[in-house]
Amino acid sequence: MDIARRIQDLREHLQRYNYEYYVLNASTISDAEFDALMRELIALETNHPEYGDPLSPSQRVGGQVVDAFKKVPHERMMLSLANAYSFDDLQKFDERVKSLLNGPQEQLVDYVCELKIDGLAIALHYEDGHLAKALTRGDGSMGEDVTHNVKTIRSIPLHVSSNASFEVRGEVFMARSVFAKLNAQRRERGDEVFANPRNAASGSIRQLDSSIAAQRQLDAFLYTLLPAQILGCKTHAEALQWLDHHGFKTNQERKHVQGIDEVWAFIQAIQLRRDRLAYDIDGIVIKVNELRLHDRLGYTSKTPRWAIAYKFPPDLVSTTLERVFFTVGRTGKVTPNAALKPVHVAGSMIARATLHNEDFLRLKDLHEGDTIFIRKAGDVIPEVVKVDIALRHPQAKRIDMITHCPICHTLLVKVDAMHYCLNVQCGGRQQEGLTHYVSKDAMDIDGLGEKIIQDLVAQGWLSDVSDFYALHEHHDALLELEGYSDKSVHQLLDAIEASKSQSLERLLFGLGIHDVGEKTAKQLAKHFQNIDALMVAEEQYLVSLPDIGPKTASSLVRFFQDSHTIKRITRLKNYGVNMHYLGKKITSEKSFWMNKTVVITGSFTTYGRSQLAQLLEDRGAKIVGSVSSKTNLVLVGDDAGSKLSKAKELGVETMDEASLLILLNEEKV
Ligand code: IVH
Repeated sequence: MDIARRIQDLREHLQRYNYEYYVLNASTISDAEFDALMRELIALETNHPEYGDPLSPSQRVGGQVVDAFKKVPHERMMLSLANAYSFDDLQKFDERVKSLLNGPQEQLVDYVCELKIDGLAIALHYEDGHLAKALTRGDGSMGEDVTHNVKTIRSIPLHVSSNASFEVRGEVFMARSVFAKLNAQRRERGDEVFANPRNAASGSIRQLDSSIAAQRQLDAFLYTLLPAQILGCKTHAEALQWLDHHGFKTNQERKHVQGIDEVWAFIQAIQLRRDRLAYDIDGIVIKVNELRLHDRLGYTSKTPRWAIAYKFPPDLVSTTLERVFFTVGRTGKVTPNAALKPVHVAGSMIARATLHNEDFLRLKDLHEGDTIFIRKAGDVIPEVVKVDIALRHPQAKRIDMITHCPICHTLLVKVDAMHYCLNVQCGGRQQEGLTHYVSKDAMDIDGLGEKIIQDLVAQGWLSDVSDFYALHEHHDALLELEGYSDKSVHQLLDAIEASKSQSLERLLFGLGIHDVGEKTAKQLAKHFQNIDALMVAEEQYLVSLPDIGPKTASSLVRFFQDSHTIKRITRLKNYGVNMHYLGKKITSEKSFWMNKTVVITGSFTTYGRSQLAQLLEDRGAKIVGSVSSKTNLVLVGDDAGSKLSKAKELGVETMDEASLLILLNEEKV
């Protein structure tokens, strides 16, 4: 048989078997037969590279390595879903749908209920029926190209029986059984284990070498077809059938229902079976079935109005409170923390929870050895919910707030609900202060983790942030330390040197002034332009500035009058650390925003209002408070009110958050 024909034949057969096995779960040949055919194909392709095809089934085993992930804009934003946590929330959603559609409240809406797969969203682009590109969600407007890894997911077709061009979206996940095996292997090898299948899936899809992704046996359920209506689908249910017919794996646990009561019944039924599913889910997605209605219901800035995600209540897990320990933050704030007998909650191992402050300790009336219930929802910090008093030992000691700093033993001072150690030389504060100074949002010095800082403090080379800039004097001694190489020391010293040119706001934030967060630091830097002007500013003047309250003003004055601060700043200056605001002024006449009068109304998910105003001002816009005929554009967030109506009345152009993000991305500087 001629080689080209045989290769073609093998590819078609392997594609078919692959579909039967991974999508239909019904294999017609044995694994050994499948492997033999695959080996034959790989051998022929290796010997005849002229017949190579990047979409051959042989690509499923991986091997392609990319240097970095290419950032690619999504043709249509990848939005998220609004959440519901109760039947009441769902009823409100249902009522909103009906009222937006102007339909009678008693009419039942046609919904499709689907499982909310706990994985990561993916967008697959098919051109003329061939998989052309696969992108992660990224920030919703820009994703990362992970085509090389997606090709290894056997349930995702590389070709489909249609020569249309379309986009399919869905969720990549790792089955529970695969996850368990993977972690067992990693534990055996001494590698760090993944906290849950979602992290494992997302870590696998973000590999540069596709052979790693191939070994991870990822899977995918697809649930969105774009543009479904143009491809002949009138309803979401039909779009899912279209996906089924074209070889995509959709989740078969879905249900087409009438009205919100039937939605609730479906949720209850799934909740009973949730633990027995082969993969993790974190809720149920409810979608209006008629696609025509999707257009009528439209979108908020971040979510469609035609769908909602019902999130299952977080797991409540009981464990033992072994002891309470207190930590000191960089501002001197002392926090009680619970050391727990480690337990699994919502996919991660929990051994610690914050107890916030004295009021919280009193409220929960915690005693040593108590049996307590904790919960963790998603990525939220674990929370102590309640104590099982019936199980308390009669002699158990009540846990009280401490009176002295656990590190330097200074008497603590109570301000509002919090206790503070006011000793600026306190070792605990110092360590936190050093870590904060180098952190991403402050001076952004790469390579200085908590452990390294501890080492440097222990060596006596580091006690103040200015000491970072003298570390080069210990270059040779640094090389002697365990775990340091010529290269890493070099990189570290370079990063420290580079931080000298950071703009003033980062330095101000990094110095860890009470009540001065990132936003305030930026405002101060912009206003005063250099640190000398800020250092001599009087309290009354500071309070007169927008967004600076009396507490912040007094903190600033106290901070800059402190002799330690003055010495520290002098030392930083002597080392050549920049003390000026460098700004990020975009004066390009090309910016869309240049000389535009803009009104911002409503709330935005990606930026705070003042942050957004700053961003646009930097690009040349003039931000004003009210809409008039002179306004060029009104930016409309969620819950926009009268300003939006005024804009419509006057015929002023409006823009929503999704379009704004696309535009800002295009102009990224
Ligand atoms: S529909 C406009 N359906 O949940 C957004 N999403 O919280 C359309 N997800 O970003 C998404 N299972 O990653 C949809 N059956 C399902 C889903 C699902 C999981 C994820 C998806 C989305 C996130 C929203």
